[in-house]
Amino acid sequence: MSCLLLGANGQLGRHLRARMTDLATCARADADHHCDLTDQVALGRLLDRVRPSTIINAAAWTAVDDAEDHRDAAYRLNRDVPAQLSSWCRDNDALLIHYSTDYVFSGNPGRGWHEDDPVAPESVYGASKLAGEQAVAASECRALILRTAWVYSALPGNFLSAILKRAGQGGDLRVVSDQVGSPTWAGTLATATEALLDRVGQRIERPTLLHVAGKGAMSWYELAREAVQMAAGRGIIKSTVAVEPITSDQWPQKAKRPEWSVLDGSRYEQLTGESLPDALAALAECLDQWKDAAC
Ligand SMILES: NC(=O)c1ccc[n+]([C@@H]2O[C@H](COP(=O)([O-])OP(=O)(O)OC[C@H]3O[C@@H](n4cnc5c(N)ncnc54)[C@H](OP(=O)(O)O)[C@@H]3O)[C@@H](O)[C@H]2O)c1
Repeated sequence: MSCLLLGANGQLGRHLRARMTDLATCARADADHHCDLTDQVALGRLLDRVRPSTIINAAAWTAVDDAEDHRDAAYRLNRDVPAQLSSWCRDNDALLIHYSTDYVFSGNPGRGWHEDDPVAPESVYGASKLAGEQAVAASECRALILRTAWVYSALPGNFLSAILKRAGQGGDLRVVSDQVGSPTWAGTLATATEALLDRVGQRIERPTLLHVAGKGAMSWYELAREAVQMAAGRGIIKSTVAVEPITSDQWPQKAKRPEWSVLDGSRYEQLTGESLPDALAALAECLDQWKDAAC
């Protein structure tokens, strides 16, 4: 199997390249192949040259608030790139692994979201990612579309690293408690991707949608409180800081977020025979690695 990883320097990309050694990597810099994925000609040439049997697309426009002001740019990356990748995969009998988001949903069904639940994105980011899912589905290529949620890692630029940076500087935290979701360590998503490739990749004949996320439901506030406690316990920050729950109204953001982002991963578990980890156990593992990396 020849596998090409796009978005190799993002949170998920870095976890995938650390786990899967037989990958060719692609990013705008620091990778085997360099490509701005929104350059359709360059992307087409790259695919024709490398001729991967599997493409993992970990690249995306992930700046949720910025997408409100840069709609076309978000759609180019989140809809047009997967559309091009899925056409190429269909024409070349390759497998596409693509990622999507809980932000395709709004409302609260009173349980974790299933793959077949109705979608109703409330943000440009969510709508652009849904358009990407639909483009892959319409291509009828061999594809796994993995919806995930609240992805974090030790890299800068995500919720966990932002709150631990502030807590490490001794600052108290005010964190939204009326949005509930399934926090997902990028390591969990990379492990699940590998399990899917090993166990079912060759059996996938058409676009297949799966939810892959940390198990359990918690608010951003609860996640911050747990992360601060665990980080202080491991010496990643000097001591705990106060974490105050606030409402979304008290933390205005340009893009509207879903109030309920809990994803039900049982279809993934049935397909692979693997259990998804509890969200707090995965957080502990992430922080153990964070501490070891700093040693
Ligand atoms: N983060 C979350 O909370 C979250 C939640 C649900 C779903 N997801 C989905 O999960 C997947 C992985 O997310 P992530 O958090 O790992 O994303 P990330 O850390 O933001 O990484 C995205 C990657 O896309 C690359 N990229 C952006 N524009 C590009 C372009 N024009 N050409 C080439 N590469 C480009 C970036 O490259 P540079 O390094 O060069 O900037 C970056 O490495 C995405 O599909 C995302 O939508 C994420």
